[in-house]
Amino acid sequence: MVRHFLRDDDLTPEDQLAVLDLADRMKADRLAFTPLAGKSVATIFEKNSTRTRLSFEVGIAQLGGQPIVVDGRTMQLGREETIEDTSRVLSRYVDVVVWRTYAQARMSAMASASRVPVVNALTNEFHPCQVLADLQTIRERHGRLAGLTVAYLGDGANNMAHSMLLGGVTAGLHVRVAHPQGFAPHEDVLADAGKRAADTGGSVTALTDPRAAVAGADVLVTDAWTSMGQENDGKDRISPFRPFQVNAELLATANDGAIVLHCLPAHRGFEITDEVLDGATSAVWDEAENRLHAQKALLSWVIGP
Ligand code: CP
Ligand code: NVA
Repeated sequence: MVRHFLRDDDLTPEDQLAVLDLADRMKADRLAFTPLAGKSVATIFEKNSTRTRLSFEVGIAQLGGQPIVVDGRTMQLGREETIEDTSRVLSRYVDVVVWRTYAQARMSAMASASRVPVVNALTNEFHPCQVLADLQTIRERHGRLAGLTVAYLGDGANNMAHSMLLGGVTAGLHVRVAHPQGFAPHEDVLADAGKRAADTGGSVTALTDPRAAVAGADVLVTDAWTSMGQENDGKDRISPFRPFQVNAELLATANDGAIVLHCLPAHRGFEITDEVLDGATSAVWDEAENRLHAQKALLSWVIGP
């Protein structure tokens, strides 16, 4: 069985814990593991990227592998070649495919024809590598995961909201998604997260009151109000979102010791203020660093026995 990582719940709670534990070990001794020696990893980007691209390229090299970074917009995939045919060819060259693309259905099509693991480096629907780094960061700051409450504020239908729901409940978190009307998480993701939560002791709540979401929260998470590809979708992605801004006033209503996460890039003055992003409760730079460690651990898991 090829181990793909297409969405957060492709890791069982036990798998996720093993990956997070390995990520901590990778961080403590970043050159101690070389499971990719003699292996090549294609990392293909159809959307812009700073963190994901750089952290995978560095991480693959640190694991002893050869990273091949490709702008997917210049591949034949961008012309007439099908995803499945592309996948068959990639399987003959590389040992892992890491891909950032648009619809999740494209990711599933790549995996369906692949003989090697496929890793989701962001789709419209999910950003599971990011949430592994987020979980590593939360555990570093709070010393545990299960039982903590995470409040995500913003577009409840985007990749970060969906991945925080699925990845968060896998770790036993209580995940609240606060969103404007019309920007609720997809029903199927809520249902899948709810089922997983029943096994782990976590819980899932979607609501439209940001203050109710933040009351009693240990972690505040936000993300862009306009994700890549949504620039011209005709929706007002500013005014309905204003009450969901992560600012000092809202943060003051969270639990003592609450931390703030943002996957970045941040739109300062929109979803988050400078004061909070640059303030003492912000864990965003550690979160960005942890992309490297968490992805190295994930790559070890996908190629592992
Ligand atoms: N957080 C994140 O995925 O950043 P990039 O878009 O820069 O890769
Ligand atoms: N939701 C954002 C995340 C960027 C890392 C986007 O998809 O653009």
